[in-house]
Amino acid sequence: MTASVDKKKTGGLAGIIAGDSAICLCGAEEESLLYRGYRIEDLAKYASFEETAWLILRGRLPNAKELLAYKEELSRLRDLPVSLKAILEQIPKNANMMDVLRSGCSLMGHFEPEEKIRGEFEIPDRLIACLGSMLLYWYKLHQTGKRINLQTSANSLAGHLLQLILGHPASPEHIRALDTSLILYAEHEFNASTFTVRSITSTMSDFYSAICGGIGALRGPLHGGANESAMELIFRFKNEAEAETGILTMLKNHELVMGFGHRVYTTKDPRSAVIKDWAERLSQEAGDERTFAIAEKIEATMWKEKKLFPNLDFYSALVYRYIGIPIEMYTPMFVMARISGWSAHLIEQRKNNKLIRPLSHYIGPPPQNWLPLERR
Ligand code: COA
Repeated sequence: MTASVDKKKTGGLAGIIAGDSAICLCGAEEESLLYRGYRIEDLAKYASFEETAWLILRGRLPNAKELLAYKEELSRLRDLPVSLKAILEQIPKNANMMDVLRSGCSLMGHFEPEEKIRGEFEIPDRLIACLGSMLLYWYKLHQTGKRINLQTSANSLAGHLLQLILGHPASPEHIRALDTSLILYAEHEFNASTFTVRSITSTMSDFYSAICGGIGALRGPLHGGANESAMELIFRFKNEAEAETGILTMLKNHELVMGFGHRVYTTKDPRSAVIKDWAERLSQEAGDERTFAIAEKIEATMWKEKKLFPNLDFYSALVYRYIGIPIEMYTPMFVMARISGWSAHLIEQRKNNKLIRPLSHYIGPPPQNWLPLERR
């Protein structure tokens, strides 16, 4: 019994074009990355995260007036519904932070349901502004026993997040480092979490359900979870020699080295050089060249042995460490940025929707005769 279409084995859908999109070009051959036609290197150098999120969502760069208004609007949207805060308080102290975000996003679907919302960008803007507040409200309550004020003096998401984490305004250098990381993490075409968002959207489900699915997919160590694993890996070694030996042993044992390799790129992740520059700069500022040297040794060994290169997650982990983000918050930081990409894909999917329903390659038993209970 076979379906009437030519079905190919497509492990992990590698190399399969699964739809049209005008949002992001992840150039496999050129190993480049463009958001709405703009090079990631230019965005990282000249844009802010807010400018990038606007571009990704609305399809064009904002002018100065629009950008200012957008930043003010996102600042205004930071606080949370009182009832949502009350529920966040019930989430256990030792919960996984991605679970907190997933639950928080789901709860927003109750308190600010999509049916009551008019503007196309209202939910994404609200989530960009308040997802971090959700996480930090819950985190700080359990850390300090205090209910923190979710309105900060920061005029950017990066500044706001760092101020909530640190309890005081961060330095402009550290804010710009996080801002750059958010730009790099904002969008990456049909990766696993975005494809999940699009699949859920394609059933004509609601905005929050689709984003909850994205958060769930991003949680895994083969996707967003890799940045936390990368930091744990770097911490494992005391010096470069230990790092080299450790990596060789891992490769010999066929273990995955987190923060390396990519499904689309084959020789380099274009985002990695940008974030590595920041990691180097911040390691010098912190007087911690040793950790950076260990990371570089891991990179060199991976290239020498397997021709594998660091992806965005590897050096992002170091940047987060130097600017004071707790390790368990690394993957949630990815969410803070990717919410813009997910939302743009959700909106794009809705504009030209077709139910996403592929075929499977059947490898089960042939048709069987029914066996009554007494004969099994
Ligand atoms: N460490 C060690 N070996 C790796 C590796 C890594 N990080 N990434 C790939 N490989 C090896 C595989 O074991 C495989 O080796 P083999 O041919 O001897 O079996 C080969 O490289 C091909 O890898 P494969 O798993 O088929 O590639 P993929 O396209 O399915 O995987 C990733 C892409 C990203 C899932 C994979 O590189 C990975 O697991 N990386 C670590 C997790 C990570 O950093 N994720 C964030 C991605 S942005």
